[in-house]
Amino acid sequence: MNERISHVGLRDKVRTAEEAAELIHHGDVVGFSGFTGAAYPKALPTAIAERAKAAHARGDDFAIDLYTGASTAPDCDGVLAEADAIRFRMPYQSDPTMRSKINGGSLLYADVHLSHSARQIATGVYGDIDVAVVEVTRITEDGHLIPSSGVGNNVEILDKAKKIIVEVNAWQSLELEGMADIYRVRSKVPIPITDTGDRIGATYIDIDVNKVVAVVETDAPDRNSPFTPIDECSQQIASNFLGFLEGEVEAGRLAYDQFCMQSGVGNVPNAVMAGLLDSKFENIKAYTEVIQDGMLDLIDAGKMTVASATSFSLSPDAAEVMNEKAAHYRKYIITRPLHVSNHPEVIRRMDLISSNGMIEADIYGNINSTNVTGTRVMNGIGGSGDFTRNAIASTFISPSTAKGGAISAIVPFASHIDHTEHDAMVIITEYGIADLRGLAPAERAKRVIKVAHPEYRPLLEEYVERALKGKNVHTPHDLSTALSFHQRFEETGSMKP
Ligand code: COA
Repeated sequence: MNERISHVGLRDKVRTAEEAAELIHHGDVVGFSGFTGAAYPKALPTAIAERAKAAHARGDDFAIDLYTGASTAPDCDGVLAEADAIRFRMPYQSDPTMRSKINGGSLLYADVHLSHSARQIATGVYGDIDVAVVEVTRITEDGHLIPSSGVGNNVEILDKAKKIIVEVNAWQSLELEGMADIYRVRSKVPIPITDTGDRIGATYIDIDVNKVVAVVETDAPDRNSPFTPIDECSQQIASNFLGFLEGEVEAGRLAYDQFCMQSGVGNVPNAVMAGLLDSKFENIKAYTEVIQDGMLDLIDAGKMTVASATSFSLSPDAAEVMNEKAAHYRKYIITRPLHVSNHPEVIRRMDLISSNGMIEADIYGNINSTNVTGTRVMNGIGGSGDFTRNAIASTFISPSTAKGGAISAIVPFASHIDHTEHDAMVIITEYGIADLRGLAPAERAKRVIKVAHPEYRPLLEEYVERALKGKNVHTPHDLSTALSFHQRFEETGSMKP
């Protein structure tokens, strides 16, 4: 570990996770590294959870407020939620245990645009951070931190923290050094990125070493879920997405060379990237939030020249490959603070096409990414808003149904709206492409219904007919049945009559 903790003074601060957890108290505001199952602290969460359980067993209160870059993993968000060790969480999560605590009302959650979260932390909207717990791959001689598999909100959290605990993870490749591009966003100062691959900062995060109260050694893998094999539906959606891109080329709005993409996480986006492997697109660039398996395949195939993101979101197998070949991938991949990767200013400049998943879309193109039946939070908005509003073309890709067909992803009125009809441009399902650009709401409805599942199309058409009988027909709605699909689902377990 001496090669990983090169700062002599910080070697004296090495503690066990349990000793370090003693420095975190009930009511503390804690900032963790971590972004989609990568780069989160591996030891402190369990140690804090144990501390909470012991306190609760004694009849004492113990809960912290927790800020991160985004979601983490079962051995982080999961164990802490299970132990009721969190009072408040922001800006994004995707853990099943945490989700049920949030929906059950025992854990408060602020679901925030990730680009906003960075600035809000930096400017003290959430107050000071008592303790930052940040995973790194190495501490340099000067006490600089070399990020591990992601950067997320680490810079803002470390800057704002009164005390710092550093986890040095021996599992993370030392060859990751050089991949990160650390830059502090300043008010009213343009971010000088004009191309995806531009490097504008340092390879390390500089901190005040006097704030470090403990260094904890770990040796544990990132914990992302493996992707499920690509099924027929995902393959069809991917093929439709490629059809959309080819249409853009035909229309002269896109070139086969140097297309710039943003891709949300999940099985369908991964299928899209597999589709790009066999496409005519060359020298693809990604200005995106996370590095996924499909991007490594595109790099390996010589199809992708550069990928800029804030973190990895790799399957366990791909994470092992990354660890072995980090020196190679570092030539193609840049990890940035999410304040930069998700900054609207830069996204707009990249002329990218975004693609994200959704819970549901309504017939006019409003998108619900977060709340099932408008009330049960799934994950959060993440960076989908940052990219959707600032892409040259924003797409949402999703199967037309969920839960074996009991739920239609196309509904009369979205039960919660994350991306309005003004932001979302194209909706793609296995049934086709609904390109809504340049259309009035009533025209959009016809296109959106065409990509709904055939079993739901007549119901949606009936709804439009009914709505058109109202006195306002610009965005026709029949308010008494606008949420009838959701109501039926709540009552019967299916949106079908
Ligand atoms: N109603 C109820 N559940 C739904 C649903 C709907 N309309 N649509 C999807 N789901 C459920 C699926 O059944 C599945 O549940 P399961 O895990 O219990 O099987 C889960 O949501 C995931 O759906 P899936 O079809 O596999 O798509 P996905 O992995 O792409 O996830 C979102 C879809 C919307 C949940 C996901 O994209 C998300 O959280 N998006 C918001 C954040 C985001 O876009 N981040 C990227 C920005 S860079």
